[in-house]
Amino acid sequence: MIGKRILLIVGGGIAAYKACELVRLIRRQGAEVTCVLTEGGAHFVTAMTLAALSENPVHTTLWDLRNEVEMGHIQLSRQADLVVVCPATADLMARMAAGIADDLATTLLLATDKPVLAVPAMNVRMWQHPATVRNIATLRDHGVAVLDPDEGVMACGEYGPGRLPEPEAVMVAISDALTTAHPQPLEKPLAGRHILITAGPTHEPIDPVRYIANRSSGKQGFAIAAAAARAGAKVTLVAGPVTLSTPHGVTRIDVETARQMAAAIDAALPADVAIMVAAVADWRSADQAQQKIKKDGSGTVPPLRLVENPDILADLCKSAHRPPLVIGFAAETNDVLAHAQAKLARKGADWIVANDVATHQMGGEINALHIVSAAGVESLPEMPKDAAAAVLVQRIADALA
Ligand code: CTP
Repeated sequence: MIGKRILLIVGGGIAAYKACELVRLIRRQGAEVTCVLTEGGAHFVTAMTLAALSENPVHTTLWDLRNEVEMGHIQLSRQADLVVVCPATADLMARMAAGIADDLATTLLLATDKPVLAVPAMNVRMWQHPATVRNIATLRDHGVAVLDPDEGVMACGEYGPGRLPEPEAVMVAISDALTTAHPQPLEKPLAGRHILITAGPTHEPIDPVRYIANRSSGKQGFAIAAAAARAGAKVTLVAGPVTLSTPHGVTRIDVETARQMAAAIDAALPADVAIMVAAVADWRSADQAQQKIKKDGSGTVPPLRLVENPDILADLCKSAHRPPLVIGFAAETNDVLAHAQAKLARKGADWIVANDVATHQMGGEINALHIVSAAGVESLPEMPKDAAAAVLVQRIADALA
């Protein structure tokens, strides 16, 4: 995304506040963003907020002569690599579909020769109304990538599809749109497949306030879940305690401990592929205290006896419901490939994806993965976790083809 230019049109809906977070995320990825705020959008967020976050002037009106001299609306619509409409209201999409150009946003959308990504957000009844359904179909027909909204409780209190996807999910669609000619991949190589993924750490309680944990952020597992969903798979993501939002189109089951993770995996089977990315705690406290352990004043340290947790990956490989393709991860600090090869045999997995957590710290944004299997080792170059996820999902699609 570095150096890419995005024109972000902010429509008039309560979800407009999420556009502010989106601006931050786009800039954090190294891209530049210029905002256009519709009259409706300005009722929800201010041009000042967007200007401060984007560090660029915000355009609000077609009739701003100064802008027309410095930068005409045609130029504004074409200097971007991608036009993103977020939130795309029912009204804005209706005008887009009809080719109406009665304000700056719709004029830019009609004049642009760049890919357009629309991120709808509206009340569930508005989303399901035949007029909106028809307008979305028309827009898709015109080559606009329209994201499906999330399902959930809306600002108006109703429940259903219509919520704006989380900004992280919109970011993934944006980076897809920038890397491919088609913002939403038409090819769904994993359509019809169920992919089961674990991600994040586990927390093993010592007493009600303390636990054993590790540094896993869950980012790589969540990125793989997002990439698999984009490739058309039905994705079940069993997540340990992390602070990430659920990728678009992914079913998430939150767990805390290794034993809960093992039970969630059992319940989610059968699957075509299992990808065990979680950094499962190897041990848990043998005697979990029901009350907070207190110091007794004598300086005596309480004994912390550990017992081994179930090995979810190894147990899955031995199970009668073993998915045809089982992939484990290995975070190693030394002798990465040797440990990965040993783990492949020990766990009974088909592939072990290894990464060196001495050079790429756990919890970071970048990974350099080695895909180890009986066929050999493929070492991927260093890349952002999203990109590594996309490559791994492609390899999985190739293996299943
Ligand atoms: N794993 C698991 N259940 C466990 C431990 C690990 O499912 N109790 C899975 C991880 O999700 C990962 C793979 O096994 O896919 C390797 O995890 P790792 O912690 O590297 O392996 P360990 O068996 O714990 O080996 P070691 O700690 O000795 O490196």
